[in-house]
Amino acid sequence: MSEIGRDLIEGFDLNHPPAGFIQDPFPYYRTMLAHQPILPQPDGSFILSRFADLDRIYRDTTLYSSDKKQAFLPKFGGDAPLYEHHTTSLVFNDPPLHTRVRKIMVGALNARAISNMEPGLIETIDMLLADMADRNEVDLIEDFASKIPIQIIGNMFNMPMEDREPLRDWSLAILGALEPTLTPEQEAWGNQSVKDFKLYLKDLANHRRKYPGDPETDVLTRLIESEEGQLSETELLQNCIFILNAGHETTTNLIGNALAVLHEFPDQMQALKQDPDLIKTGVDEFLRFLSPNQFGNRETTEDIELDGFKFPKGTNLHLAIGAANRDPAQFHQPDQLILSRKPNRHLAFAGGPHLCVGFQLARMEGRIAVNRFLKAYPDYKLTGEAEQGGRIRFRGYAKLPATLK
Ligand code: HEM
Repeated sequence: MSEIGRDLIEGFDLNHPPAGFIQDPFPYYRTMLAHQPILPQPDGSFILSRFADLDRIYRDTTLYSSDKKQAFLPKFGGDAPLYEHHTTSLVFNDPPLHTRVRKIMVGALNARAISNMEPGLIETIDMLLADMADRNEVDLIEDFASKIPIQIIGNMFNMPMEDREPLRDWSLAILGALEPTLTPEQEAWGNQSVKDFKLYLKDLANHRRKYPGDPETDVLTRLIESEEGQLSETELLQNCIFILNAGHETTTNLIGNALAVLHEFPDQMQALKQDPDLIKTGVDEFLRFLSPNQFGNRETTEDIELDGFKFPKGTNLHLAIGAANRDPAQFHQPDQLILSRKPNRHLAFAGGPHLCVGFQLARMEGRIAVNRFLKAYPDYKLTGEAEQGGRIRFRGYAKLPATLK
């Protein structure tokens, strides 16, 4: 690693990041960690990058709130579909809504439910691999990584196959609206997507009320059955949208990032081909090294002082997961991909009471997708035409063209 001076982050503004930050944020993260792990922002917020700070903040829901009703008001406007969606979904709530909804979701994603999903997952992956067999060039995102979570999440909701097509665009539009700055077009696309998605789910939920599924495995039936006295119609629909989105772009990015980064570490690629069991620790290393979620957020509930910085009540803190996961105080050789790394207590799934509900499912998807891909196409090569997704909060590729043989 080259020595980096602090001037790289002089005047750094997450709302208007310097050219090159999205493509390669890691030199900036290294500079923050080395020189200013609590970095004040022009709008009064702060970027925090140390593993220890993030770890503590994620666990403390008393001093650090997830509720975004105030923060999103100027961003979306109180009447906007995006406002209703993001302020109703469990991830941006504190108890009591968070506790109620989370309990229902955790129950539906228990270990048995996840292992029941494995045969369907393998079938989906093998079908996608077979579909690519005759092609000279494929896009590993479009043709492979993005298709996997769609099917898995579609199955979780028992959603008819022919309805699954729009899910990816809805998810990109709605989660994309969480970026620090939005164009009017992106905002309009996000709002329209919430409207369309909600309308679709309303019909699906009405149908499911008439013909309930198995609440052990069908998340929608589970949410509906707990609806009486527990979730309002809006809470039900918005949290369905959230779970459908949460497990989608993130998992696509895990798989796409893994297949890309292996080319930067040919020794690790070779090791994984020789010993597929390495994926058991390897999947967490992919998540640490290129975390699909690069930033989380929390708001202070009281006046707080940390390392001489004063955070008045209501201060927005940007939690730089991508930086914390490369903090040399926590990880040795943080900028090396070491698939056998153990322990590897990364923060890609955050931590504490909001720890990702789908983390075991995501790991299973990552493990099986990467290993089956490598087995089917061990000599795949990237064509050099890769295109980053262009997001600050989510790290992944929009396009990842490759040849297979
Ligand atoms: C590689 C894939 C994934 C990554 C990196 C990821 C990451 C995260 C992170 C960082 C959070 C915490 C957000 C916060 O509190 O600030 C989160 C929450 C959540 N994730 Fe995931 N996720 C992934 C896959 C999934 C999947 C597959 C599902 C379900 C199908 C899922 C469902 C959820 C839910 C419901 C929450 C909200 C939990 C809460 O607020 O209590 N995620 N995820």
